[in-house]
Amino acid sequence: MAFQNLLFFFFFFFSIFLLQLQPSIGKPTVKAAYWFPASELPISDINSTLFTHLFCAFAALDSHSKQVTIPPSDQPAFAAFTTTVQKKNPFIQTLLSIGGGNSNSSIFIAMVSQPKTRKNFIDSSIRHARANGFFGLDLDWDWEYPKTTQEMANLGIFFNEWRAAVVSESRSSGRPQLLLTAAVYFSATRDSLSYPIQSIRRNLDWVNVMAYDFLAPNWSRDSTGAPAALYNPSSHISVSDGINVWIGAGLSARKIVVGLPFYGYAWKLVDPNQHGVGAPASGQSTEQGVASGGSISYRQIKEFIGKTGAAWEYDPTFVTEYCYSGSTWMGFDGARTVAAKVSFAKDKGLLGYFGWSVSADNDWELSQTASQTWNS
Ligand SMILES: *[C@@H]1O[C@H](CO)[C@@H](O)[C@H](O)[C@H]1NC(C)=O
Ligand SMILES: *[C@@H]1O[C@H](CO)[C@@H](O)[C@H](O)[C@H]1NC(C)=O
Ligand SMILES: *[C@@H]1O[C@H](CO)[C@@H](O)[C@H](O)[C@H]1NC(C)=O
Repeated sequence: MAFQNLLFFFFFFFSIFLLQLQPSIGKPTVKAAYWFPASELPISDINSTLFTHLFCAFAALDSHSKQVTIPPSDQPAFAAFTTTVQKKNPFIQTLLSIGGGNSNSSIFIAMVSQPKTRKNFIDSSIRHARANGFFGLDLDWDWEYPKTTQEMANLGIFFNEWRAAVVSESRSSGRPQLLLTAAVYFSATRDSLSYPIQSIRRNLDWVNVMAYDFLAPNWSRDSTGAPAALYNPSSHISVSDGINVWIGAGLSARKIVVGLPFYGYAWKLVDPNQHGVGAPASGQSTEQGVASGGSISYRQIKEFIGKTGAAWEYDPTFVTEYCYSGSTWMGFDGARTVAAKVSFAKDKGLLGYFGWSVSADNDWELSQTASQTWNS
């Protein structure tokens, strides 16, 4: 009896000790962000203590063989990614992200349409993950938006086969199954076409919902707006609407990870005295630091505010922040917005959040706010 008590206490205190080391053991949580080499942020600079998962982006798809490839110039960085971020956080899990915004969607559509090319993709993806020490694989296609019922059905079949291959590899290698995730549109339906929800439920660990880029100077030239509003009283294009559609379509909240843009968009105001959300604009701002398409990192937005003394407002209706100086207007997610979105995610019972991307944050401010809000 005494011995059993001793054992009990040993395991009891050991469990508490483990929970303190890694709170996510108690309740699985995803606090994630993407990193990519062109951002020029050294991997060793990533404060990985703020995350549970990091995505290394992007591996590509060979147009001929339909195999996953890592560009030669990225190979050393990708091979070192996991061990480097584990130095500050030994519990961190890394995923190799395949695709990206500039990838060619027709190659992907062709790949998922044939059993043989699906197998080429799947086998090579698993090989790259194991060879480079990643814990999982993430499908991140600009194609995220399939255009036909057939393409959606092929995506469902592809996920079935990807999971089956991962299960089988785990059995033969004796290692834990690789995680499988995908980046998806902000809503479960687009142009009345639905994602293969049942296949996603069965086969993916979670989806990264890209709940941003709702408004940008490229597709809203004539007025400013919240690029990633949590709420939108006059349309169904918002973070909350998208998440509700995903849950309503049958995906468990525990499989949903919501995206936080660590960047905003900059417009040129028509009249500097009209500077609210929805003020008249004439396309993107030409302010320094603004990229083609009008996007600008949170870090550069803070620089702009520091330099110009721009007014900085929080709009509780849309849940967005914006700043303006002269004829420049920027809509973005600052710390208050991030805190509100992470609270929303917790209240909805979501699995977690991800940031795009680590390099756009300002001295870890948004990453820290997100992590602290989730813990509170
Ligand atoms: C990393 O984040 C942790 C947790 O917020 C913080 O204590 C630490 O100072 C950060 N390190 C750096 C280098 O910013
Ligand atoms: C995408 O790939 C297809 C098939 O390989 C090719 O025909 C097409 O030109 C490519 N498109 C772009 C924009 O590169
Ligand atoms: C926005 O428009 C510019 C100019 O037409 C184009 O070069 C850029 O690729 C577009 N960006 C996005 C994100 O669509």
